[in-house]
Amino acid sequence: MALKPSAPKSTAARKVAANAMPGAAESTRRYDVILYGATGFVGKQTAAYFAENAGELRWAIAGRDGAKLGALRATLGLVAARVGVIVADATDAKALTQLASQAHVVLSSAGPFALYGSRLVAACVARRTHYVDITGETPWVRKLIDRHQRQASTDGTRIIPCCGFDSIPSDLGAWMAADALMQQTGEPCVSVKACFSIRGGLNGGTFASLMNVMESGEGESFRQPFLLNPTRSVPSDESSHADPIVPHHDADFSAWLGPFFMGPINTRVVRRSAALSSVDAKSPYAHDFHYQEYLRFGRGITAAMTAAGMSAGMGIGQNAMRFGMARRLAKMFAPAPGKGPSERSMNGGGFRCELIGKNASGDLVHVTIADQGDPGNRATTKFVCEAAMALAVNQKSLPGGTSFGGVLTPASGLGSVLVKRLVAAGMRLDIRTIEKDASRPR
Ligand SMILES: NC(=O)c1ccc[n+]([C@@H]2O[C@H](COP(=O)([O-])OP(=O)(O)OC[C@H]3O[C@@H](n4cnc5c(N)ncnc54)[C@H](OP(=O)(O)O)[C@@H]3O)[C@@H](O)[C@H]2O)c1
Repeated sequence: MALKPSAPKSTAARKVAANAMPGAAESTRRYDVILYGATGFVGKQTAAYFAENAGELRWAIAGRDGAKLGALRATLGLVAARVGVIVADATDAKALTQLASQAHVVLSSAGPFALYGSRLVAACVARRTHYVDITGETPWVRKLIDRHQRQASTDGTRIIPCCGFDSIPSDLGAWMAADALMQQTGEPCVSVKACFSIRGGLNGGTFASLMNVMESGEGESFRQPFLLNPTRSVPSDESSHADPIVPHHDADFSAWLGPFFMGPINTRVVRRSAALSSVDAKSPYAHDFHYQEYLRFGRGITAAMTAAGMSAGMGIGQNAMRFGMARRLAKMFAPAPGKGPSERSMNGGGFRCELIGKNASGDLVHVTIADQGDPGNRATTKFVCEAAMALAVNQKSLPGGTSFGGVLTPASGLGSVLVKRLVAAGMRLDIRTIEKDASRPR
């Protein structure tokens, strides 16, 4: 089987498609989508993406500073006049409740999320407003689950964190592999491994979020392999899921692989997807499903040495960040909040995520997700904006049906709907023919 990416549609064609899809949000609220944190480095890119691709959707930009929001709206070209502006500080619960009452979907890029996200999510849950964001702060996501899972699932409100580069390629890719195996072989997937190649820069907001996790003493929970799993779904062999710390040569990928710095975020999200799916008798993930991911270094002795050096450096760096002095030093060199890579550097970036899934009979499936542009900015913007549009426009096609909700993952909350939207937006997401594992004895 081959799922070929469809050719990128023209902007005009996508505008029609965005609005012609079944299940478009009914006009009971003033806006379909509100972009919160729109004046930030990623937030401005989400506003530009909506201006280009949202067609007739009714949307607004929101944040804490009215003057900055006004200046941003003025950059949005022809659509500017019909884009709403909402001022609401992240500490103002009343203003956030009013904001959440006006939209079907809130997209937030205001981070660190542990500082600026909790009241907004509470307002969305209270007002039954669907929510997506680009956090990678898994200890904060754990708190959201503990506070809101019950109410959001009762009400059918989809609260979907981690809809940026962390963790959509991992989560959607693992689900695509598992789903393809189930559809074609009738067997669930026992394991998926992923390897990433990336070219991109660092945002000040991302660095600030990482520092906030370290400084708030959440480093330990960040390291738990099943941090985001529902209670009673943590396997007894937890140690076999530990984050990799040394490089290895992988025969399936024909390459040297090492620990990926985003693995401790993405793996938790994928494991939550598998656990949430396990209530379904036809879950594509096996009961003892394993997921792991790596950074790809290539072939040969140079790649092996680079993998060894980078893995050691990453281990040393992560340990050093436990100490205040090392963090103060890092802050001197990292970009400040609001800053990020240059336009040129973002346009020159890119990523490729290759995944291999396996069932118990040894059938293999290969999935590739890739795109041009800085992953933490261009891909993140595309991921989160398409996720928000899916919630606004494609409600009736979403996994679980219209009454399904909870603190979800990209795969459990958006699934194939998001895959189709991303392909239509020009991203590569494809599944290569299923084959037998040649290394297994017959
Ligand atoms: N998943 C991914 O791949 C990915 C990629 C990039 C970034 N991120 C995450 O996204 C977040 C934003 O990154 P960024 O680079 O865009 O950061 P940024 O430029 O520093 O933006 C932060 C945003 O938060 C807003 N904010 C700050 N204090 C606020 C308050 N009291 N009330 C309301 N809003 C407030 C800022 O508003 P002002 O403009 O008024 O200052 C700004 O809009 C970070 O958490 C980062 O880790 C994730």
